Amino acid sequence: MRIAIFGLGYVGSVTGACLARMGHRVCGVDVSPVKVEMINAGHSPVLERGLEKLITEEVRRGALRASCDAREAMRGAELSLVCVGTPARHDGNADLTHLRRAVREIGRALALAHGFHTVVMRSTAPPGTVRNVVIPGLERGSGRRAGRDFGACFHPEFLREGTSIHDFFHPPLNVAGCEVPRSARHLLELWKPLRAPLCLTTLEVAEMVKYASNAYHALKVAFANEIGTLSKGLGIDGREVMRILARDRKLSVSPLYLRPGFAFGGPCLPKDVQVLERLGRRQGVEVPLLSNILESNARHLRRAADLVLATRKKRIGVLGLVFKSQTDDLRGSPACALVQLLLRANRQVRIYEPRVEISRLLGANRAFIEKALPQLSRLLVSSPQELLSFSEVIVLAGTHGEFAPVVRSLRKSQTLVDLVGWARMGPPGASGYRGMCWVQPAYRPAC
Ligand SMILES: NC(=O)c1ccc[n+]([C@@H]2O[C@H](COP(=O)([O-])OP(=O)(O)OC[C@H]3O[C@@H](n4cnc5c(N)ncnc54)[C@H](O)[C@@H]3O)[C@@H](O)[C@H]2O)c1
Repeated sequence: MRIAIFGLGYVGSVTGACLARMGHRVCGVDVSPVKVEMINAGHSPVLERGLEKLITEEVRRGALRASCDAREAMRGAELSLVCVGTPARHDGNADLTHLRRAVREIGRALALAHGFHTVVMRSTAPPGTVRNVVIPGLERGSGRRAGRDFGACFHPEFLREGTSIHDFFHPPLNVAGCEVPRSARHLLELWKPLRAPLCLTTLEVAEMVKYASNAYHALKVAFANEIGTLSKGLGIDGREVMRILARDRKLSVSPLYLRPGFAFGGPCLPKDVQVLERLGRRQGVEVPLLSNILESNARHLRRAADLVLATRKKRIGVLGLVFKSQTDDLRGSPACALVQLLLRANRQVRIYEPRVEISRLLGANRAFIEKALPQLSRLLVSSPQELLSFSEVIVLAGTHGEFAPVVRSLRKSQTLVDLVGWARMGPPGASGYRGMCWVQPAYRPAC
């Protein structure tokens, strides 16, 4: 393919050189004549392992060149990649000045282009940027229509400085927010030789994936540092602690616990997080990340209550009370705390929980419920039908198999508040659907 690349900083120069190596004809564009001259002279504008050699070879082969002129770079190109900087403004918001300017230039060049063109945003930008800034800017500048004459995608970049050439050729995953089939085909063709899965999704999901991914990396670093600091204070080697923790690929470093849903609870997580926080306090060590985990969870629980209260309905039916489905363990169950919040807000609550028989609750389980929800025996109903005929709102707080037909038989007048986002549940009969921290009722993985 012929490819134009806007922005010859870290991302643009690495991408340009690597795409040239893959056999494409690449022309880079930058507002800096110095960077353009450097590329054309076979030099790398940034210090990156292996890049100087790659650029020298590809420029010599005629596969890579650079220009300050967008129109020249886009002549005959099927694809443009935008890799300009999107730094933080002083108020913390993303500064889209360079991006807007690049979009203007691409739009003008697109007006002269023949055939279909795909514009791919690789710069990190807040969700909504492609739909609300890039597409209108390109349409204004070119007089052409998105979807018909050109496609605009968001394709987050995950390479790391220092190992970026290796990362380019061995991506963990390619993600593209792309809603135009012809552009999706361009991207599939582009990445086919690398054999990394291409995850096609909506523009906004792809934009958000980039921020979520970087926030997650930052969170992991801060977490490891707090665990290390606490461990050091106790005379323990935190590096060994984290090395062992990271060896667990089933629970610790895995997709588990990474699904948006209801608040956590149970007999272990809340108390153990609290102990760590207290250990920090006793040592006089500040661990703000660990100290705020329970607060974050409490706010999530409050949001669940607000979601139910916002329906302005009086009679609430809760499906599921135990802290983990398929058990009868009520200890630390967030659903119990939710029921208390609803009762305090003067709602009438009924609960269907097939795993709980009050007369059979024993030991700590019984002690917990007597303290946390002493009125439970008055609230439990014995059948889903009883719950359905009582409730104006059904709150799905568990994932027992028995709940699926209950949700499906909701009446149009009833609202479903879904705290668990259970994909297998199927479409609810209720006309109103409120998801805990997602928008659509049926979750369909994009890739
Ligand atoms: N650096 C990384 O490791 C990395 C990794 C993933 C994603 N990103 C994202 O990629 C984007 C680029 O990052 P970077 O580190 O390469 O930035 P950079 O600052 O190194 O390079 C940006 C380049 O864009 C050029 N530019 C600005 N306006 C232009 C225009 N109108 N036309 C053409 N060129 C223009 C600048 O002169 C500069 O050379 C950012 O959004 C960043 O958040 C960076």
